[in-house]
Amino acid sequence: MQHADQVAYLERMLRMVRTNTRDDGPGVMHTPVEGYYDPVRYQREVDLLFRKYPIVVGFSSQLRRAGDFVVHNETGQPILVARGTDGVLRAFLNVCRHRGATVEQKPCGANKRAFVCAYHGWSYDLTGRLVGITDGATFGDIDRSKYGLRRLKLEKYGLVWVVPTALEDDEEASLDIEGYLGALNADLSGWDMQGWQLHSSEPLRPRMNWKLVIDTFLELYHFRYLHPGTVYPLFLDNIATYERLGNHMRWAAAKRTLAELESQPKESWRIRDHAIVFYSLFPNTVLTYTQDHCGVFSSFPVSPDEAVLRFSVLVPPEEKAAKPEKYWKANVDLFANALVEDLGIGETIQKNFRSGANRQQTFGKFEKALGWYHQEVADAVG
Ligand code: FES
Ligand SMILES: [Fe+2]
Repeated sequence: MQHADQVAYLERMLRMVRTNTRDDGPGVMHTPVEGYYDPVRYQREVDLLFRKYPIVVGFSSQLRRAGDFVVHNETGQPILVARGTDGVLRAFLNVCRHRGATVEQKPCGANKRAFVCAYHGWSYDLTGRLVGITDGATFGDIDRSKYGLRRLKLEKYGLVWVVPTALEDDEEASLDIEGYLGALNADLSGWDMQGWQLHSSEPLRPRMNWKLVIDTFLELYHFRYLHPGTVYPLFLDNIATYERLGNHMRWAAAKRTLAELESQPKESWRIRDHAIVFYSLFPNTVLTYTQDHCGVFSSFPVSPDEAVLRFSVLVPPEEKAAKPEKYWKANVDLFANALVEDLGIGETIQKNFRSGANRQQTFGKFEKALGWYHQEVADAVG
């Protein structure tokens, strides 16, 4: 994040504290509750948002060396990402071209030379090429070049992104992630996460629509009431500032130490010392930059009323080396406990959608990020 933006955000939040105001949008916004459970709408979201958009499916830190691979199933597509001996990262559908068995059964691994299907032993190299057909004569002279693993679009950015739709053999596999991120691009390259290590990555399985999971991240209003025993003690009460950047968002939430800045020269202000910086990467990922790590939260659809929330923690190597494991564990536990609170209340909301009490969700002026987010989703699915 550019220093000028950091100072602007911090000044805005200091002003809110001084004047006891909030970062209000122009008005109250709404979204219909059917959007959280209607099966037709749900299927449209899966088909469009989780097939045509770049989705974060892993981290560079899992795939540093040739032969490293990761399997990812949470978009609903069976995805296999592997680094080749040429250093290039590639993504495929993890589906055998013989009769469709899952090729790689392990969730991740290293030193792989070939992926061998467990059913009849067909094998594929790290570029997805079909290199071996057992009892090959029985298939005559089929064109092996047409039986490689189906490729997906991919590019890495410290994060591994995939567009989970199979490409035809002659389609280009690259992805313009910079173009997709637009204004967020400078920030993401600025955080320089390429070398960060994956500390942990855990799936949670809330009985909530995947968007309702994202909603829990988009305002600070609830911290005081829902999180008094977990994360609220770190933060000022609902002092946050939001910005819409294309279909993504950036915002910051002030910690209790914010007022210390009043006595310090602006050139020395560093937003991570006094706030947490958030990014919403459309459609399903929220990044949270704290003083010494990044939390990555991705919500995936399981059914209209169920999601997987994957909570991963990335740590710069120098921070990882400087602090003992129990420090990181305490940190992760604190956020995980807050998540349990968010998902507990979220599951009641999901159940209550069908009660007929509310036709729509109501977002207050300082809940504007929710209004923006649901507008973006609605626009994207048409
Ligand atoms: S299905 Fe994979 S080798 Fe037959
Ligand atoms: Fe929360």
